[in-house]
Amino acid sequence: MKTVTSALDLYHDGDVDTNRSANPHLADLIAERYSRRQTLFGGLHAAGAAVFGGMLLSACGDGDAGDTGLAVTITNGAAVATSSGRTVTLNGDVASSGATGTFTQVAGPAVALATTGNVATFVAPAVTTSTPLQFSFKATAGGSSGEALTTVTVSPAALGFSAVAKSLADVVAVPAGHTVTVLYRTGDPIASGVSAYANNGTDVNFAQRAGDHHDGMTYFGLAASGTAPNPSSNTRGVLALNHENIAGTVAYLHAAGQTGNVSGGTRPEAEAIKEIEAHGVSVIEVTRGAGNAAWSYVQASALNRRITPNTTMALNGPARGNALLRTLFAPTGVQARGTINNCANGTMPWQTYLTNEENWAGYFRRDAGDAARRTAAGRAKENQSLARYGINEGAVGNNRWSTVTPADTASTVFARWNATVQPTAATDGTGDFSHDPFGMGWVVEIDPFDPASTPRKRTALGRMNHEGCQIGRTIAGVRPAFYMGDDAQNEYIYKFVSNTAWVAADATATDRLAIGDKYLDAGTLYVARFAADGSGQWLPLVFGQNGLTSTAAYPFADQADVLINARLAADILGATRMDRPEWTAVNPATGEMYCTLTNNSSRTPATTDAPNPRAYVDPKLPQGDVVNADPPTSAQATRGNANGHVIRLRETGDTSEATGFAWDIYAFGSGADLNAANINLSGLDATNDFSSPDGLWFGVASNVTGQATPLLWMQTDDGAYTDVTNCMMLAAIPGTVGDGGTRTVANTLTTAANATTTSSVTTRIGKAPGTALRRFLVGPKECEITGIHSTPDGRSLFVNIQHPGENGTAAAPSSNWPASQTAAAPGVRPRSATIVITRDDGGIVGL
Ligand code: FEO
Ligand code: CA
Ligand code: CA
Ligand code: CA
Repeated sequence: MKTVTSALDLYHDGDVDTNRSANPHLADLIAERYSRRQTLFGGLHAAGAAVFGGMLLSACGDGDAGDTGLAVTITNGAAVATSSGRTVTLNGDVASSGATGTFTQVAGPAVALATTGNVATFVAPAVTTSTPLQFSFKATAGGSSGEALTTVTVSPAALGFSAVAKSLADVVAVPAGHTVTVLYRTGDPIASGVSAYANNGTDVNFAQRAGDHHDGMTYFGLAASGTAPNPSSNTRGVLALNHENIAGTVAYLHAAGQTGNVSGGTRPEAEAIKEIEAHGVSVIEVTRGAGNAAWSYVQASALNRRITPNTTMALNGPARGNALLRTLFAPTGVQARGTINNCANGTMPWQTYLTNEENWAGYFRRDAGDAARRTAAGRAKENQSLARYGINEGAVGNNRWSTVTPADTASTVFARWNATVQPTAATDGTGDFSHDPFGMGWVVEIDPFDPASTPRKRTALGRMNHEGCQIGRTIAGVRPAFYMGDDAQNEYIYKFVSNTAWVAADATATDRLAIGDKYLDAGTLYVARFAADGSGQWLPLVFGQNGLTSTAAYPFADQADVLINARLAADILGATRMDRPEWTAVNPATGEMYCTLTNNSSRTPATTDAPNPRAYVDPKLPQGDVVNADPPTSAQATRGNANGHVIRLRETGDTSEATGFAWDIYAFGSGADLNAANINLSGLDATNDFSSPDGLWFGVASNVTGQATPLLWMQTDDGAYTDVTNCMMLAAIPGTVGDGGTRTVANTLTTAANATTTSSVTTRIGKAPGTALRRFLVGPKECEITGIHSTPDGRSLFVNIQHPGENGTAAAPSSNWPASQTAAAPGVRPRSATIVITRDDGGIVGL
């Protein structure tokens, strides 16, 4: 190896970005570099070779015996600048002979060189400081030989695309040089013999079609066998994704919209079956043809599966068999029927998928008189629990499914949505569905490689409006942590720490759900309390400790009761009420945990605190309104924390087992035009202003996007800035907790009734993101962008577009996407869909 000195780090001439532009002519390079050759190679080439633009003059050769005058060049020049994750292509030339030479790396962090003839390519490795790599190109012909050298200086990762403009158009817009492929749309068939989706409301059998409202998603590499994982497969995989809801787009599922969902109405069975089956999870095989062809899903794959609200699931963990989980369907409390409102996801290193039950409470009916019946049956505390989770008397249940009279009178798939105690049923819950709400609100683990497997609800992780559940870094011998948001106004951030220390071999075990049992069925659930000084504590939800006893405001019976009623336990512990915790994401390099706090219309100046410091009025402006008028002239103004923020924390000692942490706020959402002192605190501009962050994901550690200075993706689910732009996805290379400072925010909030309150709050804010945060994608009309994952190489990015046209009707769709992606498609009903984004040059997306 030849010595490379750090003097090269300062040299950035010849900024030949080999992944971005054609190679310059050799003569230009020679002219450019000649005068600087001593600067270039004075410390690099120990033998003191004279170099012209990468051409080594063999008369002054490096001492190799065979250097006898063959002119060998690297046409890129002697110095190439690039950054982590970009593809570098080196071109060797043996002009006089036409001979083929050989590229080898001679210095710097080792890369995988792929060579074809006189061309070598490699991906610039992840670095934290500017790092030189040196390559040699040698050739021999007719008894002569020669060598040329080049130094490729790699800078830390930088965003590699131009910002996409805010837009109200009905297309997915991505930067130039990228391609969008629509992969998997609502209604697409996933079994052989199932007809193509007519998309006119006549289609049935959603148990064998894509559901609606695509949400959280994971790509798992699939081996050539077609049955087992191959975590390094970039061309064949299994995609697991959630179908959160049908709200807003339910009209498009039926020929002329939904019928019977009115006060006092009853629902037709056929419509209800479709609506129920359009919820849940899809598992589908996806493939990419040879030569970077487009991705497609495999309609007849044996791995394809729909999991729905009717799929039988096991209850695992401390609450398994608890009296609160006994129903007519599961009299011993060890099973639950189905999963619903599956929002964000989790990707386990042992190749399983977590799906998380979020706004499940709204689907349950609870009639007047139910509370009195529970009290009479000795179940009074269930009333406290149901109220805390938002299931109150008078609730009819979303879509009124319980009103269906089924043709099969023995079927209970509709009756189960009525949580009202039935007067003639057994008082312990086994004769009705009064305990069915306790079977929802869990994290559910699915083995995507075994379509016959029974999903397992992991009760050790607590019951709440689960948004997502992401595992932190896994380090052998250390107990892993799983980070979770409870998405409702003023709810909490949780983490679960397994009782079991990580064993690396478990990542490749074949009984994947048994590995899930090992890590997810026993451990400690904690809830976060944030202090104003930038520190925080994880408070354990353990029965018998810190007031979680039978004499508490809610009388806990045991640990199962604590987990089933995690919100009530967290209330007692004094957890911090947050601005709607959505996705969590863990930086694979640092272990820092990020959580989106999407917005909170009920935050007021009086309730602001350091981690939730803003309460203001965001003017949503129809034409003619005055920007920043206070109070705004628009009746549509959003109040409270209207645009949301992203909080992050670093565990004490950088260990997942910690019970303390430091925190700051990575970025505050805001329109670029809003008050810079008190609202647009992160200094967002037209290239990166956003509102209501929701989806959040770091690139995976198998490629540069998850190494050294990882790439963070952020997606929005917004209603405040939608007068200006559709929802979007941004990319960022964030810093670390504490890289900014403190900031004092002056809040002023004027209510619609013209009452004004104020507060002054000092918070912790990270370094302004600047150009390291950039808009990558804008979605079609009335959509949410949610769900993201990539192939292991980071070259194919899977993204979900949820509920385009959610405000339209079957008769008058308000979006025509995805049909509108390629050409105007008036009248065509919109569909949620998974898309795949690739770079036209085949590179890593984002860098
Ligand atoms: Fe399903 Fe909290 O978004
Ligand atoms: Ca969400
Ligand atoms: Ca949301
Ligand atoms: Ca949504």
